[in-house]
Amino acid sequence: MNIIFMGPPGAGKGTQAERIVSEFHIPHISTGDAFRAAMKEGTPLGVEAKKFVDQGLLVPDEITVGIVRERLHQADCAQGFMLDGFPRTISQAESLDAILESMGTKIDAVIDLQVDRSFLLARLTGRRICKSCGSTYHVVFNPPAKENVCDKCGGELYQRSDDTEEKVGTRLDEYINKTAPLLDYYDRQGILRKVNGEQEINTVTAEINSILRGLK
Ligand code: AP5
Ligand code: MG
Repeated sequence: MNIIFMGPPGAGKGTQAERIVSEFHIPHISTGDAFRAAMKEGTPLGVEAKKFVDQGLLVPDEITVGIVRERLHQADCAQGFMLDGFPRTISQAESLDAILESMGTKIDAVIDLQVDRSFLLARLTGRRICKSCGSTYHVVFNPPAKENVCDKCGGELYQRSDDTEEKVGTRLDEYINKTAPLLDYYDRQGILRKVNGEQEINTVTAEINSILRGLK
């Protein structure tokens, strides 16, 4: 089962992917997480990505596609994968199709988490992430049991550097201009599945689970 999660910044892609992974046992591939890990380690990829991520801009396609191509060829993707935050441009989507074709596989469903812009700023500025395991929380909508401490591993929580009001504005513009056109691209292929991402987190998970069980 090969799935893509789409939706604007703060739609809940990472939150839902974390939950879905535990039922379907396929790897969760987030290009945003890959860039942040490389930035933390200070690798050449991280240094390059930082120039864009810190401004809320998309990282150039050739860099992003290279990472995904390498990741999809790893053994744990043979039974399926869940892409979160990739593709984000038509060019990335075409590259993905070509990579999958060369591997003899294809995308089964694109889950579009639909959330109005008015919800997103509060979601993003209140988001907290575990430094150790990457679990996502929200100070109001999904708080940890103990402030600033991860429920799962006890790690310290931090705020992403691009989760400021100014950067969120740029990220949303990037989404509208470059990523939203992909919805039509996948709709034409008949694989787009829309989910109301404004509902409570567990309700969204249940809807996605029911779509994915239908694909198995
Ligand atoms: P990335 O990390 O992918 O960021 P994004 O797309 O902006 O999405 P987010 O991670 O901010 O949101 P999400 O939908 O995962 O929401 P979450 O579940 O955390 O990318 C970061 C950067 O990397 C990009 O700006 C770009 O520079 C670069 N990049 C990445 N991929 C790229 C690509 N393909 N090409 C080029 N550049 C790329 O939820 C948000 C908050 O809301 C959390 O606090 C959560 O607890 C809460 N929440 C979630 N669901 C609900 C709900 N139903 N109700 C209430 N609260 C909720
Ligand atoms: Mg995310």
